[in-house]
Amino acid sequence: MEVKPAIFPHEQKNHVLLTWAQSMNGKIGYKNYSDDEKGNLFLGQLKISCKESFRMTHGLRASFDAIMVGSNTVRNDNPSLTCRYPHPEDSTCLAPLSMQPIPIIIDSHLSLNYASLKVMELARCGLTKAPWIVVAPSVIQRKTKDAQLQERWNCIEHYGGQIFVRDQEYPENWKDYVHLEKLQSNGASRIMVEGGATLLRKAFESNSFDSLVVTIAPKMFSDEETIGISYLKHLNLNHALWIPCGSDILLTTYKHFPMELLQLK
Ligand SMILES: NC(=O)c1ccc[n+]([C@@H]2O[C@H](COP(=O)([O-])OP(=O)(O)OC[C@H]3O[C@@H](n4cnc5c(N)ncnc54)[C@H](OP(=O)(O)O)[C@@H]3O)[C@@H](O)[C@H]2O)c1
Repeated sequence: MEVKPAIFPHEQKNHVLLTWAQSMNGKIGYKNYSDDEKGNLFLGQLKISCKESFRMTHGLRASFDAIMVGSNTVRNDNPSLTCRYPHPEDSTCLAPLSMQPIPIIIDSHLSLNYASLKVMELARCGLTKAPWIVVAPSVIQRKTKDAQLQERWNCIEHYGGQIFVRDQEYPENWKDYVHLEKLQSNGASRIMVEGGATLLRKAFESNSFDSLVVTIAPKMFSDEETIGISYLKHLNLNHALWIPCGSDILLTTYKHFPMELLQLK
């Protein structure tokens, strides 16, 4: 039976969900091999979750206003950050534009080459919403003297994206760093934070989230090649739900977890 993805119009506004996929030993992605500009080696996305939990993630995306990711994740994975429901494995099977989440990238120094990103290309084709980028205030000054920065700024705006300049250069608090209040008041009320490790860790440390959905796959990856997450030991899991999903397990503290997303054939 085909079920529509759950949308929760009556659910509370201003919700932050942290979500990621990890192996049993907590690995979430390949390490970035820094040496940029000159031969940086990006290994791409580490395949972790099974197809059922992958589909669950895409169903969940349909009920959020935005997906937030860190700059390293975009640099390393070049993700499309789309809702491809109900066939996420098919990159051409995009949900309608109204169901697409806004991609939000935390990129303080406008360090990414926006013209070459998948999120930009999809927005340019009118298939998805254009990204929102959060930058530090110094970018405003720097771009007047730096043609490359100005070009990136123009590229984002040209394709309908928005740039949010936060108040402080390096605020301590996660909410200030990602300019959460401003994003939410502009319409990205319900945000899924999908990684990477640093952005999630900072949100965890400042206790800036409402719920969690973690996909745990029956896999192990090596310490040499991959980076991990070890936050779960800091959580009070008394009220967590553990839900089988294909060969994976979902750990969720999400109060209104859309169980129907797990009942799809
Ligand atoms: N398995 C999964 O579910 C999953 C999901 C996504 C990504 N990943 C993997 O994660 C890896 C990348 O992770 P990463 O840790 O290297 O990078 P990341 O989290 O993608 O990027 C670091 C982010 O943290 C931000 N940041 C720095 N200080 C902060 C603070 N005080 N408060 C809030 N944000 C702050 C950075 O902002 P600036 O722009 O200012 O530096 C940047 O946006 C990749 O291998 C990727 O494949 C896995």
